[in-house]
Amino acid sequence: MSQSAPDPTVSTHDLAALLDWYVSAGVDCAVGEAPVDWLDGPPRAPGAGFVWPERQAGMPVQPGAEGAAPVEPSQRHGSGHDAGLGEPAQAARAVVQRRPAPNARDSVRAPPDRFATGAPDAAETAARRLAREAQDMATLVGSLNAFDGCGLKATAKSTCVFRGAEQARVMIIGEAPGRDEDLEGRPFVGRAGQLLDRMLAAIDLDETSVHITNVVYWRPPGNRTPTPQETQICRPFLERQVELVAPEVVLLLGGAAAKAIFDTQEGIMRLRGKWRNIEIGSHQVRAMATLHPAYLLRTPAAKRLAWRDLLTIKTAVQEKK
Ligand code: URA
Repeated sequence: MSQSAPDPTVSTHDLAALLDWYVSAGVDCAVGEAPVDWLDGPPRAPGAGFVWPERQAGMPVQPGAEGAAPVEPSQRHGSGHDAGLGEPAQAARAVVQRRPAPNARDSVRAPPDRFATGAPDAAETAARRLAREAQDMATLVGSLNAFDGCGLKATAKSTCVFRGAEQARVMIIGEAPGRDEDLEGRPFVGRAGQLLDRMLAAIDLDETSVHITNVVYWRPPGNRTPTPQETQICRPFLERQVELVAPEVVLLLGGAAAKAIFDTQEGIMRLRGKWRNIEIGSHQVRAMATLHPAYLLRTPAAKRLAWRDLLTIKTAVQEKK
């Protein structure tokens, strides 16, 4: 699809039909002013071309850190664009090699290596370093806002890190931001989030006593489930987040979060309602999975199971008081 001037012979009826077609095909928001032909130009996945911050800073790259592309001096951090960002944020901003301008594109199509595996490893390693360096939640949020190593960011409007208290006895981890969350920049603010708030209120918890986040920080296109690779790239940030929040209890919402955190392929119906002692980052904590509020909205009969799990959480929180 290439951008062209509006065709005066196309009626508003046809344009409305085209929009209808997009909606039926699952398009629910426009992510840019101009259409992008993703099939044109170098076939690189978002996040490919990710390069080591050390290399950009002129420092030696650790052994085994292959796949780093050379970086133009103009892409080094410290540019006016990044003024005001903290050190980790600047480093993260700098690690991505930007997509070349259209006229600079190679006219010869490279073979379809868009799912080359080198870049995610580099992204995860950079994520780990940035996460480790974040001494407080504000720095972690800044690093995430500037981090471009996760392909999900390419289609998301916002980075959604957390909602609620910075430190809390209860930490809630869901799957991924949805449309409302992406628009507002905070997790669980849509219909599922409203139900979550009512569930929490039923066991005497609210935003002042819980920390709410997701296993990935950007909305997957079309609300699909995040891939294991996307979850893995976000994981170092999540681990650091858990260390900073220091919860006594972790509640996982839905199968995707439970599978990612418990590192299992078991389904949510088997996983839910049972305590597991987990180590996430350097933090040891009791964790339980329950049904996702979005699922409960679609399947109200399952609310009784979630209610049972919530009562177990309530007892655990009261025991610890
Ligand atoms: N569903 C999730 O898993 N997370 C959100 O933030 C919103 C909906």
